[in-house]
Amino acid sequence: MSDSCKKVYITTPIYYVNDVAHIGHAYTTIIADMLARYSRLAGYDTFFLTGTDEHGQKIADSAAVRNKSPKEYADEISGKFKNLWDDFDISYDKFIRTTDEYHKIGVQKAFQKMFDKGDIYKGNYEGNYCVSCETFFTDAQLIDNEGCPDCGRPTTIVKEESYFFRLSNYEDKLLALYENNPEFILPKAKAKEIVNFVKAGLHDLSISRTSFDWGVKLPDSMNDDKHVMYVWMDALMNYITALGYGTDEKNMEFWPGKVHLVGKDILRFHAIFWPAFLMSLELPLPDHIAAHGWWTRDGEKMSKSKGNVVDPKEIADAYGLDAFRYFMLREVPFGQDGDFSQRALMDRINSDLGNDLGNLLNRIQGMSGKYFDFKVTSKDVEKYHQKELDEAHELIKNAEPLIYNMQINRYLEELWKVLTIANKAIGDYEPWAMMKNGREEEAMALVALIVNIMSKVSIMLDSVMPEKIAQIAKSLGITVDNASYKALIIEKGIVADTVITKIDALFPRIEEELIATAEVQKAETVVEKPRKEAQKKESTSEEDNIITIDQFFETSLKIGTIVEAEEVPKSKKLLKLQVDVGEENNRQILAGIKEFYSAESLVGTQACVVSNLKPAKLMGMLSEGMLLAAKDENGLSLLRPETSKVAGTKVS
Ligand code: MSP
Repeated sequence: MSDSCKKVYITTPIYYVNDVAHIGHAYTTIIADMLARYSRLAGYDTFFLTGTDEHGQKIADSAAVRNKSPKEYADEISGKFKNLWDDFDISYDKFIRTTDEYHKIGVQKAFQKMFDKGDIYKGNYEGNYCVSCETFFTDAQLIDNEGCPDCGRPTTIVKEESYFFRLSNYEDKLLALYENNPEFILPKAKAKEIVNFVKAGLHDLSISRTSFDWGVKLPDSMNDDKHVMYVWMDALMNYITALGYGTDEKNMEFWPGKVHLVGKDILRFHAIFWPAFLMSLELPLPDHIAAHGWWTRDGEKMSKSKGNVVDPKEIADAYGLDAFRYFMLREVPFGQDGDFSQRALMDRINSDLGNDLGNLLNRIQGMSGKYFDFKVTSKDVEKYHQKELDEAHELIKNAEPLIYNMQINRYLEELWKVLTIANKAIGDYEPWAMMKNGREEEAMALVALIVNIMSKVSIMLDSVMPEKIAQIAKSLGITVDNASYKALIIEKGIVADTVITKIDALFPRIEEELIATAEVQKAETVVEKPRKEAQKKESTSEEDNIITIDQFFETSLKIGTIVEAEEVPKSKKLLKLQVDVGEENNRQILAGIKEFYSAESLVGTQACVVSNLKPAKLMGMLSEGMLLAAKDENGLSLLRPETSKVAGTKVS
């Protein structure tokens, strides 16, 4: 980033309050937090914004289902988001809520300005509306004349008087924006979609609603009480109202923003509507709209109904917050979809964090303690290791621009190459041999090289793993701040004489058995959660999750006869079953029912089997299906035919 740009403004999307946070939300927030922490360390005046999006029909409906007022409900869920980010030590400067008074005033002022400019007019709207996506679609866009093309839920025809924003007037200006600023949309590959969408022609945008009232009212001067603002108009404005647009404008010096981080599903709103609104408001445009991909779990889309949503708190509690942060940032190239699995997380912990990073610190502690009573001087490091230092500086210099280009996984890869220089130097120079041959000065220079490399990498990793880096810095006797960033990174300086302190292993190895247990637990939650969800849904909003008959028939259900059953050793919940579902060979199914059925009691009985489930490996054993069961406070019962049926009989 050029030095002239001293102010950095970083935002996450504001999260809808109709759901609690999952790893998708945590992902965006962690990326933004990393960028904000890095920017502060590098000396930029930084403002990091996150918050919650609380208006619109979807939120009003979710509140109604729970017999709560929209505000009561929004308070509750917004509080949960804020608590989670506080638990995660997310370094936001402001948490905005769209129900905050200053926000509403700012949105009204913006509406007024766009209206006065002639960009807003009143008309009539008739269209297919998806409440879940809060978006209108044309007939041609619908699936089977009815379904929302984004989420598949049925749309409804909404006919109402509406205010419109003259989006069509901005077509050429938007195309010029994309053309002249090839990095406005990141990753660049995503820009094409947006350009094609705009080239296909933009309709004016309906920006008010009369069918519900949970939203920001129009400015008083419009004298039109029936309307509330369209939720996306209200929501996008948060990026400027949070800086005081229309109220106390002192933080508007952070505008234009450096980067709005968003998921790919909401890129269109940010890359088309938002710059058009800003042009209308005569405000400068942000540098980047950066769109990340979606996380799936074990290869499947996460959804409440599948019960496979990953709770970020659970993962951070189990594996450590910094390991989770590292994994999220390292595992997937920005912009691409990524798969979350505990196995992949554990592999990263054991190899990148334990072997490469943690172990290097152990070696520093070991060598400095054994040979030099923990006292390390860098006075001869340049004499013996200028080459390695130059290589490290070069890698770090080239890595830095990757941060603001959103290639954070590549950034981490480059830092790991720097760690390799250190790990390799120990093997190449053999300090133990030097000590034996009386070459103490050289051995000290080598230990100092490792300390220098570790210190530089730590500074560059501080934004990624702040807690662990604080421990490393303590052990190395260095501080990580803007002064050390300047001295050791920008000026390529050398670490002052220091005393190493021994600390506990940073990333203790996770053993194979634990990985296997985690797989079982995961399998067990996948078995348990859909049932819990199903029970919950009876009392909440089943209509949120309507499926078509075709979707139902995608699941193949058959009657299976259990031919063999045995306990899975070391598992509290699993039984290993051989089930005849009318095929040439029996299916092996691992079922989480050990607490409710003994293996012997099952042999010869029948159950209903989901037979087209993707096979999964649990504790190293293949599971090729799932048994259906119902569970309440009195226990669990397998679902069985009333009278015996031929194995393989279809259930419909
Ligand atoms: N309220 C709007 C944003 C308004 S910004 C002016 C919204 N909220 S959301 O809560 O539904 O989604 C917030 C973000 O979470 C989006 O960027 C979305 O892409 C992201 N994710 C939701 N599920 C996700 C995954 N499974 N994986 C990664 N991110 C995902 O949209």
